[in-house]
Amino acid sequence: MRTSGLMTLSSYKIDVKSLKDVIYLVMFSDLHWDSPQFCDDEWREFLYWAKHHRNAYFVGNGDYQDTFRATTRDNIQRFAEPEELGMIEETSLRHTQKLADQMKPLKGRLLGLGDGNHGWRFRDGRWDSEVLAQMMGCKFLGVKSIVNVQLCCQGQYTSFLYYQHHGRSGNTSTAGGPFNAVEKQGRHFDSVQVVAQGDDHNKGILRGKPRLRVVPSKSGDLLIKEYTPFYVRTGSFRKGFVPDTVDYAHEANYGPVSLGAPVLQMKMYKTQEDGLRLKMGEHSMI
Ligand SMILES: [Fe+2]
Ligand SMILES: [Fe+2]
Repeated sequence: MRTSGLMTLSSYKIDVKSLKDVIYLVMFSDLHWDSPQFCDDEWREFLYWAKHHRNAYFVGNGDYQDTFRATTRDNIQRFAEPEELGMIEETSLRHTQKLADQMKPLKGRLLGLGDGNHGWRFRDGRWDSEVLAQMMGCKFLGVKSIVNVQLCCQGQYTSFLYYQHHGRSGNTSTAGGPFNAVEKQGRHFDSVQVVAQGDDHNKGILRGKPRLRVVPSKSGDLLIKEYTPFYVRTGSFRKGFVPDTVDYAHEANYGPVSLGAPVLQMKMYKTQEDGLRLKMGEHSMI
């Protein structure tokens, strides 16, 4: 298989001190951390931002390491001797631990880490992204996952559904093209508010058309609730061009990518008819 093929459902609770607080959701993927094309400067900036934004929460969408693509991985696992596999696993563990050490500023604020198509599968069945999630003390989300994100403040709460898939590279030739597949993914489930894909190394957030839901209020009357879906491409930390190096991105003639990770900001507010509601919008990590 190209990825773990695993789908998960989970919940994540965020305790918010005050209704005045702005909460950030950072969706990141495609670090390709051990590739010569990995952009260390952008990654350091990301970690610095994480360290200095304590109200930020993070979710990973795969390809943290470059390691092996699916076909290469399958061939190695088929033809390598047990001691050679042992050597690869040792190296992979060491790399994963080094990456986990760098990611320390995110610890305790990770909704989870999803899986991509790059990486290593250990002989005990675990993927390197799964091992990374264990090291970070968060949930391994698999390749496709829905997280029910609950924001709780002073005994009241509101929530939204976050739905991610590692994705597949597609139409990336126009600014809007990469979002088509994400919007289509959003039709799989009712009421998912944030839908994300990685893999094509595009970064951005597209605000969808508002949707309406009819729901019963506390008093039993019917209420119309509006929510706006957001379609997200979870970015990359892998450059497309490095002179005098050999790389599949050069061979495939990939275009340039916008490095970094997209961010949503959100804030709770009180309504008279229906308790807490959530306002959401794009934020730029600069
Ligand atoms: Fe990738
Ligand atoms: Fe990928």
